[in-house]
Amino acid sequence: MPLALIYARSENRCIGRDGELPWRLPDEFKHFKRTTMGRPIIMGRRTYEDHNNLLPGRTNIVLTSRRDFEPAEGVLVRHSLDDVLCEFDDGAGELFVIGGAGLFAAAFPMAQRVYETVVHAEVDGDTFLPDFDFSGWTHTVLEEHPADERHAHAFTVRRYDRVR
Ligand SMILES: NC(=O)c1ccc[n+]([C@@H]2O[C@H](COP(=O)([O-])OP(=O)(O)OC[C@H]3O[C@@H](n4cnc5c(N)ncnc54)[C@H](OP(=O)(O)O)[C@@H]3O)[C@@H](O)[C@H]2O)c1
Repeated sequence: MPLALIYARSENRCIGRDGELPWRLPDEFKHFKRTTMGRPIIMGRRTYEDHNNLLPGRTNIVLTSRRDFEPAEGVLVRHSLDDVLCEFDDGAGELFVIGGAGLFAAAFPMAQRVYETVVHAEVDGDTFLPDFDFSGWTHTVLEEHPADERHAHAFTVRRYDRVR
């Protein structure tokens, strides 16, 4: 079953600022939680350190070059994306890359599916997503969420599937 990327980006492709998300969008977080629940999630060391704890109900895998890296209890550490793919692809469900930027870029050529949230705002930040080429992919709009009292920005969730 496919390797999948899941991320939220602004119109100007920002995904992070000062080690955090540059927005607070509770329903977008619910989508992330619902989509990844029960599945292995792969994250870079900085993304892991940003929340510094296990995301419950999922196999948490941190990628780092550091051989002496000590994560919280229950978090797995690995040193190469290829090793993770060999070890955790159970053929049954998706294996999720959840960030950050470098890991998304490394994983995109191998991904079969991308869950992309576009936050409809231009945002200042320090971490940006590369421009992915989705030619040869199809996409489906999963959700159009308006701005409201709990969400400062509207957002759109799409699922891209690689067809070739
Ligand atoms: N909007 C979103 O959807 C989203 C999602 C995730 C994160 N973020 C944001 O993005 C920012 C963090 O992302 P980032 O790009 O700075 O860092 P990151 O990708 O989370 O972490 C980078 C580190 O991960 C390790 N790493 C990455 N790829 C690896 C590989 N292929 N093999 C071995 N180790 C690998 C390396 O750790 P070592 O240096 O230890 O070797 C590298 O320095 C934060 O602001 C966070 O909030 C946003």
